[in-house]
Amino acid sequence: MENKSNRIGIDVQNARGFYGRRAGKSLNERQALLMKDFLKELAIDIEVSAPKPLKDLFSKQVESVWLESGFGGGEHLIHRAKENPTIGYIGVEPFRNGMAKALVEIEAEGLDNIRLYNEEAGPLLDWLPEGQLDGFYLLYPDPWPKKRHFKRRFVNMKNLDRIARLLKPQKEFRFASDIDSYVKWTVDHCDRHSEFSWLEEKEENSLKPWENWPGTRYEAKALREARQPRYLTFLRK
Ligand SMILES: C[S@@+](CC[C@H](N)C(=O)[O-])C[C@H]1O[C@@H](n2cnc3c(N)ncnc32)[C@H](O)[C@@H]1O
Repeated sequence: MENKSNRIGIDVQNARGFYGRRAGKSLNERQALLMKDFLKELAIDIEVSAPKPLKDLFSKQVESVWLESGFGGGEHLIHRAKENPTIGYIGVEPFRNGMAKALVEIEAEGLDNIRLYNEEAGPLLDWLPEGQLDGFYLLYPDPWPKKRHFKRRFVNMKNLDRIARLLKPQKEFRFASDIDSYVKWTVDHCDRHSEFSWLEEKEENSLKPWENWPGTRYEAKALREARQPRYLTFLRK
């Protein structure tokens, strides 16, 4: 696989369609230890076959499974896992420092309903069994605001096919962004995709977050910089 690093330290893995940072500043001792040991316990191994039913991925019995792709530091994922101990959460984050931050919190809270994947989402999404997710979160994906970079956005027809394959009928794909052009882009892509219908129907109906919304780290930055978040819900037909 081609794996280049550019001037500002962004790993560019064109071969797998991932554009983002894999690592930032050094981890502290605790984070490094958790990345070495604890992550092994929680990480999903896509070299073995996926469990059927998917719920068996969790050591405890869970009623349903949700996935969050690109969880950053894991604030939202951990909030959901704490408020819904009988739901299993799969968290995906290729950025090492974000994963390390989440591990510290998961361990401190003793959460047993989270499994993790520390790579870009694509291979995991292809590995997971069809039609077994009850929800999919994509919260503030990297915006790629320049037109020539739009093709790097996580929302594209291939990833929408993947999400559609994974969700049960009538279950939700939840997308948040503060970038107007990305909101329009996502509405347009889901509109053209045969398997999704947009619940809010209009942009003016998409100002209210979902129930028990804790916010995210990236959202806090957007609000400080006076950008308006939008919350879009697409139903898998
Ligand atoms: C702008 S940040 C938002 C983080 C978090 N959701 C929040 O709202 O604070 C986007 C995140 O998506 C992750 N990401 C980028 N491409 C990804 C991919 N292909 N699969 C999974 N995560 C990805 C990045 O590493 C980054 O942490």
